[in-house]
Amino acid sequence: MSHLLFIEANDSTHQSKSLSSQMNNAFLASYRKEHPEDEITILNLFEERLPFFDLRLAKSAAKLFRGETLDQEEAEQAERLQEYLNRFLESEKIVFSFPMWNLSVPAPLHNYMDYLAQSGQTFHYTAEGSVGLVTGKRVLLLHSRGGDYSTPDKIESDHAVRYMQDILQFFGITDVESIILEGHQQYPSQAAKLIEKALSSCEKAGMDF
Ligand SMILES: Cc1cc2nc3c(=O)[nH]c(=O)nc-3n(C[C@H](O)[C@H](O)[C@H](O)COP(=O)(O)O)c2cc1C
Repeated sequence: MSHLLFIEANDSTHQSKSLSSQMNNAFLASYRKEHPEDEITILNLFEERLPFFDLRLAKSAAKLFRGETLDQEEAEQAERLQEYLNRFLESEKIVFSFPMWNLSVPAPLHNYMDYLAQSGQTFHYTAEGSVGLVTGKRVLLLHSRGGDYSTPDKIESDHAVRYMQDILQFFGITDVESIILEGHQQYPSQAAKLIEKALSSCEKAGMDF
């Protein structure tokens, strides 16, 4: 039995029929069918409402990891961070589902990645530079964006998938696959086909992941 952590950074609370939800449903339905014994945890970052990561929290977390005494407020926040971090570290298979927002990822996802980026836990620094500490994970990115960023003139503007790949690599995670639905708003006449293709890739990924 494996444990799948499915991290959603889609504001599905305020948009019930989003494309991201359709991609998630296509993946999860076939995953559940193919891996009935697996445990799945769904973490909806728009619902979690994690406190904004700041240096006070960073310092509290560092104190917690060093085994130092924390005051009550520091302890509450740092222990919450540790729970999210542990859940991530304990999962063998992880899916991130997120749309592009303003060329990047939605803020709750960036905030969550800041929670995970803890020195001594997911990476550490050496004289040769940073070294990732997370091994043995398989990650899938499910991503959608209205524009087409696959062309040479636009590829540099993708700070969503490229950011996720970079930060995961910074943690040491190299087994990262992705399914990208893009261009459905830029090319309305092709939208139906692009969506159908992406949903079928999600369904297939659910079987193979
Ligand atoms: C706040 C906001 C910002 C967006 N920024 C971009 C963007 O920079 N580039 C882009 O291609 N699409 C952008 N989009 C469009 C979404 O990425 C696109 O509709 C995507 O498929 C998300 O779909 P969903 O919300 O139905 O899951 C944005 C949408 C919203 C709501």
